[in-house]
Amino acid sequence: MSDAHVHPVQPAWKKNALIDNETYLKWYADSVGDPDKFWDEHGKRIDWFKPYTKVKNASFEGDVSIKWYEDGLTNVAYNCIDRHLERRGDQTAIIWEGDDPSDDKTVTYKELYEHVCRFANVLKKHGVKKGDRVTIYMPMVLEAAYAMFACARIGAVHSVVFGGFSPDALAGRITDCKSNFVITADEGLRAGKRIPLKDNTDKAIEIAAKDGIKVDKVIVTRRTGGKIDWVEGRDFWLHEEAASVEPACEPEHMRAEDPLFILYTSGSTGKPKGVLHTTGGYLVYVSMTHQYVFDYHDGDIYWCTADVGWVTGHSYILYGPLANGATTLMFEGVPNYPTPSRMWEVVDKHKVNIFYTAPTAIRALRGVGDEWVEKTSRKSLRILGSVGEPINPEAWEWYFNVVGEQRCPVIDTWWQTETGGIMIAPLPGAIDLKAGSATLPFFGIIPELLDGDGNIIEGEGSGNLCMRQAWPGMTRTVFGDHERYVQTYFSTYKGKYFSGDGCRRDADGYYWITGRVDDVINVSGHRMGTAEVESALVAHDKVAEAAVVGYPHDIKGQGIYCYVTLAEGVAANDDLRKELIAHVRHEIGAIATPDKIQFAPGLPKTRSAKIMRRILRKIAEDEFSALGDTSTLADPSVVDDLIANRQNKR
Ligand code: WT7
Repeated sequence: MSDAHVHPVQPAWKKNALIDNETYLKWYADSVGDPDKFWDEHGKRIDWFKPYTKVKNASFEGDVSIKWYEDGLTNVAYNCIDRHLERRGDQTAIIWEGDDPSDDKTVTYKELYEHVCRFANVLKKHGVKKGDRVTIYMPMVLEAAYAMFACARIGAVHSVVFGGFSPDALAGRITDCKSNFVITADEGLRAGKRIPLKDNTDKAIEIAAKDGIKVDKVIVTRRTGGKIDWVEGRDFWLHEEAASVEPACEPEHMRAEDPLFILYTSGSTGKPKGVLHTTGGYLVYVSMTHQYVFDYHDGDIYWCTADVGWVTGHSYILYGPLANGATTLMFEGVPNYPTPSRMWEVVDKHKVNIFYTAPTAIRALRGVGDEWVEKTSRKSLRILGSVGEPINPEAWEWYFNVVGEQRCPVIDTWWQTETGGIMIAPLPGAIDLKAGSATLPFFGIIPELLDGDGNIIEGEGSGNLCMRQAWPGMTRTVFGDHERYVQTYFSTYKGKYFSGDGCRRDADGYYWITGRVDDVINVSGHRMGTAEVESALVAHDKVAEAAVVGYPHDIKGQGIYCYVTLAEGVAANDDLRKELIAHVRHEIGAIATPDKIQFAPGLPKTRSAKIMRRILRKIAEDEFSALGDTSTLADPSVVDDLIANRQNKR
């Protein structure tokens, strides 16, 4: 390997590794050579009430139908909790680290069992049945984990909505999956600031009611004790309810293809989609990837810094690690509170061995100076993970050199909400690293690169990243809209799963993700549809038209750049800019906060009125000398104004 930034597997990484290079190659060949046999063997890593006899039944053609282990019966909560009780009932299952550094708790597997059973009985008492959708809008507190497992235990389908989303966004998600139950907290706490979750829930329920969805029950966990409104007969305190029910609850015997959860994610068009994940294959896949990608050994302390509102929190804070009997850390706070040493202090405090975070956090912490890292020990760290967006080699090297002191492999994991689990990543004892590359596929994964004409690119080259065959963790449908599922993922290239990402394969067969090729942007590792921000902007009565694009941002990866055409007679000024920014935050949530707003009298459109985003992207990047052909524009002169008033001059 000749590239710069190559880091060969170190002897220490190999020493006790679960998978060495030879094993990786052999297992990989087996997994793609005879998937049925491979996944039959590995399906047994979880416990089944009734064993499966069929392993794989999947087609990417026609209507697209994906089934794994379809005649097996199991339960996710049973696998993540009950089956560990005998051997590790007194082991810590979850370490909870609060927003305030003096606030922490641990929960053993035994305690987790009781909390989850009680919560499950509370749900049952309030009428939640197998198959019902339960919306969870929670801060990063233990009760969020209890709630998710309680749903899994009784066969209810959870839809976790990130606590940073607005009442409108929450209402949209409640309505889309027709959820009559909401679990929330009085308030959340982040960096010392209170987030009015119950208040937002009340508002969302009102909005949903206008769309014909009635929320019958709201279970509220007390986090801050802040003042909230209360609807008698609808709202119930979790602690009161949990005290009045039995401490044991039999797990439902679920079919492998019964839904486990819905998670909303942004696409290039329309409203966020409810990505649906099912039970058996998902758990096999996330537990297996958690074990091998992080070279997880019994007794390791594992910390993934994500929020349970995202898929990373589902798969790699809770389901994967707990299926493996791990000790997983749940962090309520943020990386720079009270100081930029917080992450490393938490590592030292809880002796974290495996640490998994996002490039945006790495870049932000790198930016404030090495001294915040260097004053901590970090000697417990063995593995460093990265997820959510491409990690630039500079950030990678800093993570490796400064945080890990060149002792810990940096494991860059590429995957998506839809893939359920990690797809491309180096296994620590097996695969040489290259800074900036997610390296090689996991077992059973066959990435393919396709060009615009649908030709498969063999060997070195770039193209759109697709998957040739099904894997157990993948999404099965878009909730309530299978047609949209087929359309979004399987119609660009017939018979293949299309990820929406561009990618390069180098001479060593390593994969380098280059980012989205559609109108989705990635802001601090969070996926945002430009169409969603546009529709929030045009919902403002002073806005006539809007076009939104991403541009490179030093910390966030991509920033949100908005071109706004104002309504007749409205004056453009800084106050209006602030008003529009506040409006978008209000409509969607803080993660959609526009970074730049450019007032544009006209947008570049073709004669058929299609906005030419290529031009808008270039101007946002301050690369206007390379605009390409503008002769097909209906009015080429708008471009001059756009360039003259660009907001990103370097
Ligand atoms: C999109 C998926 C995976 C869970 C968190 C995000 C980008 C994700 C990487 C990576 C380069 C990455 C892709 C992907 N992405 N991980 N390691 N290297 N890009 O899940 O919200 O579904 O977003 O995030 O563009 O398509 P998500």
